[in-house]
Amino acid sequence: MRPIEWTGGRLRLLDQRLLPARVELVELERWEDVVVAIQSMQVRGAPAIGVAGAYGLVLAARTLAARALSHLDLPAFREQLATAARQLAAARPPAVNLRWAVARALRAADAAATPTDAAERILREAQAIEAEDLRANMAIGAHGAALLPLRARVLTHCNTGSLATAGYGTALGVVRAAWEQGKLKDVVATETRPLLQGARLTAWELSQEGIPTTLIVDSAAASILRDGGIAAVIVGADRIAANGDVANKIGTYMLAVLAKAHGVPFYVAAPSSTVDVDTPTGSAIPVEQRDPSEVAAPDGVEVSNPAFDVTPADLVTAIITERGVFTPPYAESLRSGAANA
Ligand code: MRU
Repeated sequence: MRPIEWTGGRLRLLDQRLLPARVELVELERWEDVVVAIQSMQVRGAPAIGVAGAYGLVLAARTLAARALSHLDLPAFREQLATAARQLAAARPPAVNLRWAVARALRAADAAATPTDAAERILREAQAIEAEDLRANMAIGAHGAALLPLRARVLTHCNTGSLATAGYGTALGVVRAAWEQGKLKDVVATETRPLLQGARLTAWELSQEGIPTTLIVDSAAASILRDGGIAAVIVGADRIAANGDVANKIGTYMLAVLAKAHGVPFYVAAPSSTVDVDTPTGSAIPVEQRDPSEVAAPDGVEVSNPAFDVTPADLVTAIITERGVFTPPYAESLRSGAANA
């Protein structure tokens, strides 16, 4: 199940808005359409939109390089490429992976001699970002599975699996690795209102792997945690600040409070590209307000629809990246855990 595929000239996406009812692919040729695909969540999940953003820059570079053959010189090419990069990077503000991947792809063109050379270098960089993310997820899985007891029952939120990454997953990578090692009993997945990433994507992904999964409404988490039997809550992240504060899907903070109240470890699993040492604390992370129409409400009723919340670092038991397991105090430990440190 690949959410993103470079076909040699186009970016192919599995349209995640339609899953699991319909499995449909879309093929994009224009970088502007990649911006829209990220905003509309045809592709979603912080690492996956980072990879998509880097390929979006490939499309921009190819289009501009073709124009350069007729009238654009290298400085004008670079200027227009930088404009495309800015718009791609800003498509979903909380996910730092997007900004990181697009900036990295753009930097790859620095040494290019011609626009065509730049487009080729950006393509190689996008492919490297994709391959590295897959490797990072496998390592996250191994580090995270080592933290779990035998016969673990894990509670997770949103979707952090193959669909949200270049493959394997972050929090779901831990679940997968623990399952492969015979350590995992089962998974409790939250529905994840309002767009139901847990119900539509996580439950679907896990059922395809044969991993026993129980779906709950988000508001059932408190009583499940009180009843005992949950070995750990494991979630992903869209951005981890230098002090360990974690921005992730709305409802994550609530789960962290509940995990603390019931003495259950609360783990955050993410690649080092999600850790941003330039964001000092969670208060500097922009909260994405999404369209009110995503929440069912009678006409005339005001809706607030923040897509993310920030979990304070003191509720996080450990942060798992491909570089290892980081524990408090995060301001010190995370310095070696960030890709941009
Ligand atoms: O709005 P989404 O579906 O993109 O939100 C996704 C999450 O919050 C994930 O937990 C996060 O991006 C990490 S995905 C590996």
